[in-house]
Formats: sequence, C-alpha cells, structure tokens
Amino acid sequence: MAAIPNESLRRRYGDAIEKPLAPSNAIVEALLAHRSVRHYLQTPVPPGILETIIAAAQSAATSSNLQSWTVINVESPQRRQRFAEIAGGQQHIVEAPLFLVWVADLSRAKRQAQRHGAELAATHYLESLLFSSIDVALAAQNAVVASEALGLSSVYIGALRNDIAAVAEELQLPQNSFPVFGLCVGYADPAKETEIKPRLPQAAVLHHEVYSTANEEVLVDEYSARLQAYYRDQQLPILSWPELVLKRLQHVVTLGGRVKVAALLRKQGFSLD
Ligand SMILES: Cc1cc2nc3c(=O)[nH]c(=O)nc-3n(C[C@H](O)[C@H](O)[C@H](O)COP(=O)(O)O)c2cc1C
Repeated sequence: MAAIPNESLRRRYGDAIEKPLAPSNAIVEALLAHRSVRHYLQTPVPPGILETIIAAAQSAATSSNLQSWTVINVESPQRRQRFAEIAGGQQHIVEAPLFLVWVADLSRAKRQAQRHGAELAATHYLESLLFSSIDVALAAQNAVVASEALGLSSVYIGALRNDIAAVAEELQLPQNSFPVFGLCVGYADPAKETEIKPRLPQAAVLHHEVYSTANEEVLVDEYSARLQAYYRDQQLPILSWPELVLKRLQHVVTLGGRVKVAALLRKQGFSLD
C-alpha cells in the first residue's frame, strides 16, 4: 500500500521526516492538508452542509457525555460587523458564507438541575470551565475537519474574546456560558490561495518517556528557516518563530481586551475557584 503522500508532509516539515509513515489514508491526508483560509467566494453554503458539520461536531467525544457546548449560527450582517470590530477588523467575519460562535455552556445543565429542584455546586469551578472549553474545542475541530472534507475552508476567530461581555450581550448568552471562539466557513477564493503552514519538527513536540528540551534550539532554528520561507512565499511579514512568540506574548498589551478574561468570566457566572 502506498505511504502517506510526501507533498503535505514536506510542506509541514521540510525534508525532516525520515521514518516510513503509515499507509495512505484519505482522512489523514485531509488532516495534513489543513490550512486556515481568510478569503472566501460569495458562493453560499448549500442546504444540509451546516447540519452535516454540526453532526460531525456532536460526534466528538464529550466529557461525561455532558455535551456542555452550544454553537450559534450568526447571519445578521450588522451583528457580524460588530463581531468583526471586536476582533480587530477581521473582515472575513462579515464576508464568510457561514459564521459560527462556539460557546462553552454549562447553563443547559443548570436548567436541568432547576427542573429537578436541585442546584449545581460544581459548575462555576475552573475545572468545569476547562472541560466545557475542551468539549467545545473538540466539537469545533470536528466541524472544521468535516467542512474541509466537504470542500469548504475555515478559520477560527479567537479574537472574539477581546470583548466577551459584548459578545455575550450580542448573543444573549445566559449565565454559566461564554463564547470561546468564532469560526468562519466558506469556499476558499482560489485567487487568494493559502498554503499549508509549516510546523515545528516532530522532535520538538513528540517526547519519549519524559519531557525533554534536548536539541530544542537547533530544532527551533531549523523551523524558523522553513517558516520564514513560507512567509516570504505568502508575501507576509517575515518573522522567525522566536520573534513570533515574542510578538504575541512578550507584552500584556498584545492580549488586548483578553487581559480581562478572568473578570469577564466571573461576570458570566464562573467564580474560577
Ligand atoms: C483557538 C484559535 C483561535 C484563532 N484565532 C484566530 C483569529 O482570531 N484570526 C485569525 O486570522 N486566525 C486565527 N486562528 C488561526 C491561527 O492563526 C492558525 O491556525 C495558525 O496560524 C496556523 O495556521 P494554519 O491553521 O493555516 O495551519 C486561530 C486558531 C485557533 C486554533
């Protein structure tokens, strides 16, 4: 049986993969070909696609089968425009045929408890916030994979967390829920092609038995060279990977409104104990 094709692997890792890989498989090939897309055709998403990708999302594993998430399909151009502004002017939020907001949601569980005259004492803990955020991320990633399998493309919008309070108000979110990220979905504009973005060499992220920083500097430098070549090809500002890390994380100011996430989560009913 033929091995996983080299083209996607080469784009991810350069020539660094030496070991023989598993036999070719359509699902793995699709995963390896992922790229975020920020330019879409105006072609609408055909009927049934949204429901199909949500079925894929609901098929993801979910902590204790609590299914502690909700997704909101936002069509209103005005609402999308407000979200684009919250996200620092990301116009693809307005232009994408579909825009979904993924919500970590413990409010449904709360309502069920109320029906039975009970209170839930465990929903406001940081652990509950973690498991519902993990659940919603796993579900959304299944939706991303399903949409790519159906010929669509997408990009996550974490920048919605710049103003959780405004997003929660806009979507009329109940207490004990919060918007984790948005997701634009649509058909990629072929005139603005996006390439597969390289990743760190596997040795940097796959450790054996115990955590290891052996060779890390060499691995990161090798990666930076490949990443810079990608930026050059895509006509984007050319940064090494350490420069990217500093740009994103050196100063609190780059977090924007997200520095206030803990306070805003408390307003949404999570005490974060
Ligand atoms: C949780 C999350 C939030 C993200 N938020 C944004 C965002 O607000 N805007 C954006 O353009 N890309 C966003 N991205 C996309 C990442 O920038 C992208 O996945 C990363 O650069 C790797 O590129 P690739 O997806 O093309 O491989 C986000 C990705 C994730 C997983």
